[in-house]
Amino acid sequence: MGARTTPQIVVLDTGGQYCHLIARRVRELGVHSQVRRASVGAEELAGTKGIIVSGGPSSVYEEGSPRVDPRIFQLGVPVLGICYGMQLMTQELGGVVRPAPSGEFGLAVLHVDDPDKLLVGLGPQEQVWMSHRDAVAQLPPGFRVLAHTDTCPIAAMADLERALYGLQFHPEVIHTRNGLRILKNFVYEICGCAPDWDPAHQLEELEESIRKQVGDRNVLFFLSGGVDSTVAFTLTARALGPGRVHGVYVDTGFMRAGETEFVRDILARFGEGVFSIEDEREEFLSALAGVYEPEEKRRIIGEKFVEVQERILERGPYLGSEWVLGQGTIYPDRIESGGTAHADVIKTHHNRVPGIQRLIEEGRVIEPLAEFYKDEVRAIGRALGLPEELLGRHPFPGPGLAIRCLCSPQGGQPVRLEQGWLLPIRSVGVQGDSRSYRAVLALDALDWADDPRAQATELINRIPEINRVIGWVAGRAFLDQMAVRPATLTRERLERLKAADAVVRRLSQASGFDHQVWQFPVVLIPLGTEEAPDSVVLRPVDSLDGMTAAAVLIPAPLREQMARRLLEIPGICAVFHDLTHKPPATIEWE
Ligand code: XMP
Repeated sequence: MGARTTPQIVVLDTGGQYCHLIARRVRELGVHSQVRRASVGAEELAGTKGIIVSGGPSSVYEEGSPRVDPRIFQLGVPVLGICYGMQLMTQELGGVVRPAPSGEFGLAVLHVDDPDKLLVGLGPQEQVWMSHRDAVAQLPPGFRVLAHTDTCPIAAMADLERALYGLQFHPEVIHTRNGLRILKNFVYEICGCAPDWDPAHQLEELEESIRKQVGDRNVLFFLSGGVDSTVAFTLTARALGPGRVHGVYVDTGFMRAGETEFVRDILARFGEGVFSIEDEREEFLSALAGVYEPEEKRRIIGEKFVEVQERILERGPYLGSEWVLGQGTIYPDRIESGGTAHADVIKTHHNRVPGIQRLIEEGRVIEPLAEFYKDEVRAIGRALGLPEELLGRHPFPGPGLAIRCLCSPQGGQPVRLEQGWLLPIRSVGVQGDSRSYRAVLALDALDWADDPRAQATELINRIPEINRVIGWVAGRAFLDQMAVRPATLTRERLERLKAADAVVRRLSQASGFDHQVWQFPVVLIPLGTEEAPDSVVLRPVDSLDGMTAAAVLIPAPLREQMARRLLEIPGICAVFHDLTHKPPATIEWE
């Protein structure tokens, strides 16, 4: 399974966020699919049963826009072009692509003119999701129209003879109601694939592959308490027997309350000595003394991690030839792809350790989950009997609570503007393609019933100094009585944040709200009074992959309940709710 088999379906990545989603959907249909660079040579695609060219942000007549090898259309293998992929196919095969009279973004009604094989099983009218500026203006020779929308005369096309298909809309997103049916038609009926992909039922095979790679050596894992590393560790321990696997968990002090105990309980099943905890709390905290700037904080934490890992490697027997390193790397982390650039950047520090580099160079690293998406890793974890409490966890950033505990070198007062209060606190955002670091605006007279997120977006567009808007929920003092005080990362403030985070998590889980959001950071800001110098910001978001995110509103009763409990924590002055989508703000504040 995995690396050993040729995927039946290859998705060529033209830079869209959707390429992974397409590959995931095909896998959900039980067919092994992988993502490759758009420019991969046709000869490298031998043995695949079908090719999908993904959508992407470019325009086919832009200089330097992604291309595919035109020979892929002559392989005799069915090809499905989606959005940009369809336009590329059109251009390569002699049709014409032009800017559409008006771009089309969002839901549209598809009128099926000719179901052929691709649209079989669909009704005469279907809801689809469109996102394009350009469109096919003239079919390439041999093609016919399969479907249209009111604004897009060629919304689906095919050359039956050569089994070449194009869709202007996105079948992979859930808003295209029968999208999965279309992909199923392509994969099974047109390409003739057979089901070959079901990670949860192939544990034996995965374990056999681990045994083969490891031989008679032992495996060391650095564990984070996250899903990936825990599943990889468990799988490996099952494959080799616990005696040959060792897990090290570094306690940085930036973990959530109860985290170390949680990890210890889960791994207790493997018995004594399989797992050890390195207490490095003091080391990390003192490295961050007097550091305020987010990037600086991240850099120091990353470097400290490297140092600690290196020390552990050198101190133990691990650099000897009888050890290999196990890592929880998953598929989107690993492959070269436009859409995952961010993930690559944020995770680099794990792979930069010189000792680890050496192990990689010597081929002494195993990554048992390198072929799988997150959902599949969860399914494997479930099949291994790991608790839902672990598998259903929200993502948690490597630097942990350190980047949710804001510091400030100087004090200052909130400034009253016409629209709200400008806080002397800055947070990170993404505007255009680059990072911004700007002030936060607080709104104190909110009509929660009238969705304040739209107002937040509008304010950020209008006020250039800000990239984030928060709404007042409750407090012991009002904004005109509060100030930002100079603050650093201290044990006291970290404990305050841990307590706040634990309260929010408990109520969020108990109410089921936890399942409605993708992630729910809790942020501490040094805004308050002398007696209660900090405030809490609630930041629930919905997202698919963290690249973009929507702020989610907490239902009123839960919001009030959370605020009441949070204000009982000593040192907390007020509670706010983050109202900003990503972009323009990032999910985390730093
Ligand atoms: P932002 O704040 O960039 O976060 O919108 C997007 C997602 O990435 C997570 N994140 C990290 N994950 N190491 C990680 O493993 C990091 O340094 C890191 N920084 C942000 C963040 O929690 C969110 O899910």
